[in-house]
Amino acid sequence: MIDAAPGAALSPLQRVQQRDFILGLFLPIQDGGWTPSTAERETQWSFGYNARLTQQAEALGFDLAFALAQWVGKGGYGGDMHYREQSLDPLTVTAGLASLTNRMLLISTVHILYGWHPLHVAKFGATLDDMTGGRWGINIVTGYKKSEYGMFGMPMPEHDHRYEMAEDFVAVMERLWRETENYSFEGRFWSGKDAYITPKPRHGRPVVVSAGTSAAGIDFAARHSDLMFVTSPGGADIEQAVATLGPHIAHIKQQASRQGRDLKCIVNPHIICRDTERDARQYLQYMLDGEDDEAVDNFMASIMGGDTRGWREHGRAGWAAGGNVQIVGSPEQVVDWLTKLKAIGCDGVQINFFDFEPDLKYFGERVLPLMQQAGLRTA
Ligand SMILES: Cc1cc2nc3c(=O)[nH]c(=O)nc-3n(C[C@H](O)[C@H](O)[C@H](O)COP(=O)(O)O)c2cc1C
Repeated sequence: MIDAAPGAALSPLQRVQQRDFILGLFLPIQDGGWTPSTAERETQWSFGYNARLTQQAEALGFDLAFALAQWVGKGGYGGDMHYREQSLDPLTVTAGLASLTNRMLLISTVHILYGWHPLHVAKFGATLDDMTGGRWGINIVTGYKKSEYGMFGMPMPEHDHRYEMAEDFVAVMERLWRETENYSFEGRFWSGKDAYITPKPRHGRPVVVSAGTSAAGIDFAARHSDLMFVTSPGGADIEQAVATLGPHIAHIKQQASRQGRDLKCIVNPHIICRDTERDARQYLQYMLDGEDDEAVDNFMASIMGGDTRGWREHGRAGWAAGGNVQIVGSPEQVVDWLTKLKAIGCDGVQINFFDFEPDLKYFGERVLPLMQQAGLRTA
């Protein structure tokens, strides 16, 4: 059950921050996960499946589970598979996972500008903080697609203006989490009279995460986030990623340290691992053979059509196999790449797989022990 651990020396976040290399799982709560392929697999978007996965990851010692949020219309991204048409809401999923886990951070994405008041999200966060014993984190996103804003009946604010709005939103939310008196505020975008939140989060505030790529996104992360999901400036190819991520991460960390803050940077690779490189490449080919052309085209167009600064160097194969970066190879090769990521300043990974349950099991049996030998994880 819940690890409330009163008086424990470290908060759940601090425990994770002290890891040699943070290990997270990217939950497939959207149908098809990250891979628009009709190749056969067992991966499911349902809560039951994702709950089992999260528990499996926790038993393997993973540090966090993360769920993304996207708003798509009927048919999802189309194709034969209606890619991502079915999906769950991450905030609600995380609430469900609270009492099924006891150690991992549980991070849910919230589009804070889609009609919420900061008081709502502060209350949800305070509640989830209690439910998880201080293990809940919010991935703050501002949305980058006109179609999503359209669903909420809103025009999409200009890119940097969204971050100005986010800044005000988060300032109010953080104040509400720590304020011990009623709080009245008259901001540019939100106001409130005698607002108050209980329970107070047990470690000052919940874990704050963001995943921007632009200068405004990095500035926001430097001032507010504990963890940042970074995208590879060099595209999905792991060699290019390793070659380009170092300066990007160094810049992000420098911005954070100017604010007196320690910000951990995490990438999200798709790990395709088998006993030999040949077998792993065959497994990748199996996914690509099942590629749902229309779904890949639409998925790619939808992200590239938005005004996100991330993912710009991704080629078509990168989109078809999925993940921000792809690591394909034997367990030894995978650990070698993870070691290289650590060497260039990356603090950890949150992994997505193709067939999550068996692939995670394989990762636990074959890759984790090598990560321990390499000093990336302790047993
Ligand atoms: C690992 C990861 C997860 C993300 N999850 C979401 C999400 O769930 N929903 C969303 O709208 N954007 C998500 N994003 C997009 C970012 O929040 C951000 O909008 C994007 O990277 C563009 O950065 P920018 O806003 O600084 O231009 C994610 C990005 C990354 C790298």
